[in-house]
Amino acid sequence: MRPLNTTSLILRDNRLWILDQQALPQEKRWLASDSVEELVDHIHALRVRGAPLIGLSASLLLALLAERGLARDDVMQALSTLRAARPTAVNLMNNLDRIKQALAQPAWRAAVSAEAWRLVEEDRALCERIADHGAALVAPGSRLLTHCNTGGLATAGIGTAIGVLLRAHQQGKVEHVWVDETRPLLQGGRLTAWEMGELGIPYRLICDSMAASLMAQGQVDAVWVGADRIAANGDVANKIGTYSLAVLAHYHGIPFYVAAPHTTHDPTCADGAAIPIEQRAAEEVAGVSGSFGQCRWAPEDADVYNPAFDVTPSALISGWVLDSGVITPQQVKAGIFQQALG
Ligand code: MRU
Repeated sequence: MRPLNTTSLILRDNRLWILDQQALPQEKRWLASDSVEELVDHIHALRVRGAPLIGLSASLLLALLAERGLARDDVMQALSTLRAARPTAVNLMNNLDRIKQALAQPAWRAAVSAEAWRLVEEDRALCERIADHGAALVAPGSRLLTHCNTGGLATAGIGTAIGVLLRAHQQGKVEHVWVDETRPLLQGGRLTAWEMGELGIPYRLICDSMAASLMAQGQVDAVWVGADRIAANGDVANKIGTYSLAVLAHYHGIPFYVAAPHTTHDPTCADGAAIPIEQRAAEEVAGVSGSFGQCRWAPEDADVYNPAFDVTPSALISGWVLDSGVITPQQVKAGIFQQALG
């Protein structure tokens, strides 16, 4: 396969490498992802993460397996295993459905490889279009708050919500970005803070619980987040803590925008209640761990609840900024998400 080099994926000499997102920012470590077992393990451990990137890494691995001569049935089996690796982000399922169609073609090896590449190139282009549409909504001098990580680490391109922040910054409109640390796995504190530094976007890192008082003080002009799945009524599943931000933004009269590619849209989920929410290990809430070490503060027998995502009701969202353009609450009420997009 042609070589590929993105912020978080490398394809070279018929091998797939992922940037270990659990080691960042302390260490920039690339890990081989040459088998289904390896990639599923990386996905479970969030070494590779973010809705678009999970789907792209799985698609690229299947293309590699096809090129290496694996039988069609075995590639199909690998596809089913990868499809089940994480339940909430629908990009994985949407991407793999396209790979499955390629697998059904007579010249399936070449078709799978071409489709995986198409998905990567499309994702890059989708990010650019989201950034253009989103930046047009940013007023000069804005202080923008974001949650989790939605940048080049989570996509093949410049990202979704972070892509918007970058484009608005390039247009000189961003005073600074408030980066939510994003407990429990600290995608904001570790990854978004690192990306903001790499991109030269001024930022201030905050604990998730600080957003309310910042908003009350008039220090937040808009909230920008990504999405893992958008239901047919416009409800959005995203990293746990997103819903609280939407409630806060609504209370304080602050615009709350969701930036996502159309591959995040799932018209088969009538509303947010139909979106499967991943439950994760107790240790993630009982303490922290990473390349900086491990620390547990909760009692050994503490009972823990750890949903990885929450659902923000459509009524709290000011705009869905997709690659196809900005969808308004009026359009959502009129049923635009019931149709196939993109
Ligand atoms: O558990 P994660 O880190 O994969 O969760 C990621 C998010 O919730 C992102 O906001 C979402 O996937 C959009 S990434 C462009």
